[in-house]
Amino acid sequence: MGDVYYGERGFNVSMRATLTLRLLAPAVFLLSIPSMYGQAMYAQRFGDPNIIAPDFPSPQEVIERMLQLAKVRPGETVYDLGSGEGRIVITAARQFKARAVGVELSPELCRVANGRVRALGLEGQVKIVHANMLKVDLRPADVVTIYLLTSANDLLRPNLERDLRPGARVVSHDFEIRGWKPAAVEQVEAEGRPRTIYLYQMGTEK
Ligand SMILES: C[S@@+](CC[C@H](N)C(=O)[O-])C[C@H]1O[C@@H](n2cnc3c(N)ncnc32)[C@H](O)[C@@H]1O
Repeated sequence: MGDVYYGERGFNVSMRATLTLRLLAPAVFLLSIPSMYGQAMYAQRFGDPNIIAPDFPSPQEVIERMLQLAKVRPGETVYDLGSGEGRIVITAARQFKARAVGVELSPELCRVANGRVRALGLEGQVKIVHANMLKVDLRPADVVTIYLLTSANDLLRPNLERDLRPGARVVSHDFEIRGWKPAAVEQVEAEGRPRTIYLYQMGTEK
């Protein structure tokens, strides 16, 4: 590549570019480590870097207590992020008369959940969205329910802080949201082991 001379010092453009790249490369590499590490960790754990939690349904008694603790009112909108086979959204609609949106990455689990919603005639109240929860607009939610992992909650937290209005509630089964102060923490015994439910209220979570 021919040199392009730049000014009297004989310092040329290609030399400048090379120097800048040499100086910036370590910083760019260091900055990308957390996301590379996070993606590699999830890919290793679940085979797909977009999957941030395994498929384990919450027991029915835990679901009911989560929605009670969040004081879900008729007509409110509940988002279950990672909605699996749809237990939480169906319970929110049937027992709490809420509107409910389930966000699920697995097409198979979306099919199962949609089948259940149709069988129960809840299509007017419950919507299942096939999407990555980290890319979904959460602004319509009054209540968000999650049963993920602490590391997944770390990824989700900035989106909750970006989208949820003051007074919205987040309820998490078994995994705390690091850096937030819970409004309530409860223990429930279900399927042979104690479960912890964390309730957070936007505006008082920090
Ligand atoms: C532990 S299960 C919880 C199921 C349901 N919320 C419950 O409590 O019964 C976690 C769910 O999150 C889903 N999931 C994992 N990563 C996801 C992502 N990035 N976006 C949407 N769903 C995801 C999994 O497929 C799984 O169904």
